[in-house]
Amino acid sequence: VDPRIETLQRKAAADAGVIGLGGGLPADAQFPRKALVAAFLEALSSAGLPALQYGWPEGLASLREKIARRLNGRGMNVGPDDVIITNGAQQAIALSLELVCRPGQRIGVDAETYPAALDLFRSRGLRPHAGPGAFEALYSTPALANPRGTSLDGAARAQLLARRLPILEDEAYAELRFDGALAPPLAATAPQRVFLIGTFSKTLCPGLRVGWLVPPPRYRRRALRLKHDSDLQSNSLAQAIVDHVLAHDDFDERLVRLRRFYRRRASRLAAALKRHLPSWRFRFPEGGFTIWAEADDVVDEARFLAHATRHGVSFDPGSMFRADARTTPTAVRLSFAAAPGPELEEAVRRLARAWSRRREVRSVTLPSPSPLAAM
Ligand SMILES: Cc1ncc(COP(=O)(O)O)c(C=O)c1O
Repeated sequence: VDPRIETLQRKAAADAGVIGLGGGLPADAQFPRKALVAAFLEALSSAGLPALQYGWPEGLASLREKIARRLNGRGMNVGPDDVIITNGAQQAIALSLELVCRPGQRIGVDAETYPAALDLFRSRGLRPHAGPGAFEALYSTPALANPRGTSLDGAARAQLLARRLPILEDEAYAELRFDGALAPPLAATAPQRVFLIGTFSKTLCPGLRVGWLVPPPRYRRRALRLKHDSDLQSNSLAQAIVDHVLAHDDFDERLVRLRRFYRRRASRLAAALKRHLPSWRFRFPEGGFTIWAEADDVVDEARFLAHATRHGVSFDPGSMFRADARTTPTAVRLSFAAAPGPELEEAVRRLARAWSRRREVRSVTLPSPSPLAAM
């Protein structure tokens, strides 16, 4: 991410006067706080205190078992030993990448994709590229894409598989598909070359940093080696908490509630966009947290972000999501998840006001980069 953009986002996040439509944060009102407190207390009182002790690199057996069972409900055929608990989906992407790509190689991505994956690919010396070409591996989010909130249809999934390349299949948002059945992962069809990646960040809470990786069997030992070398194991306490929540709460019922909640939020944001920014184009998402919107006019997007934050709203500029960091066509990703529902309308009103004064953008000066931005 452009350090100027990250600096603006950090400033906006610290400013209570700015409504944040950026980021992929869940609604904090949806964190199951009571269940988490109960799970925490339980973890600290269970015999032998395994939640405070070292564990194995693959992670807690009972949690792996639950994840395997859930995946098998979607057409996979895996056991607990096929699952590795990771520090979020991000670590699962990083481990998979290390197993299949070398610096200088090309990795295929969607036209717009998850920015921290692009950052990771670049910092590993890879060249992410959208569109046709020769690649070493593909990174894809077939179940539900970030930022567009779309899923791949059967033909597109078959096309991906037909390329016969290793695929990093990122299902971070899969379970937050609003309606309809979730297709089996690509990994169910091609378990020998698909790395299946998932997380509890979007459905429980990201602060626990619990995700998973199901690598193809022949990569499993090396994945565990890499995991061990980098952090020995994922956080025992966090794993115990998630395991307890899954054992005692009806997680599927929770997902039903979350989907309903986020669909309502999406409708609210979509209605506000139609009302206040009718010239912007977008498609209603099939799930997830965000709407991707495009506009015809070209603006300097970092300056437009600075300008918008002065009007009290922030967002994620389109270039963050593109492998070539293109700023055209002008696009923004807007989250309907994190800001309180009633603020969405006001946020879009502010965005529309900033957009109507986009002529002023040229004279906006950007802050000097924060020392923490784009490290
Ligand atoms: C597509 C995608 N993959 C992975 C992640 C990272 O998830 P985690 O918090 O589990 O590392 C995100 C977070 O926004 C995401 O959008």
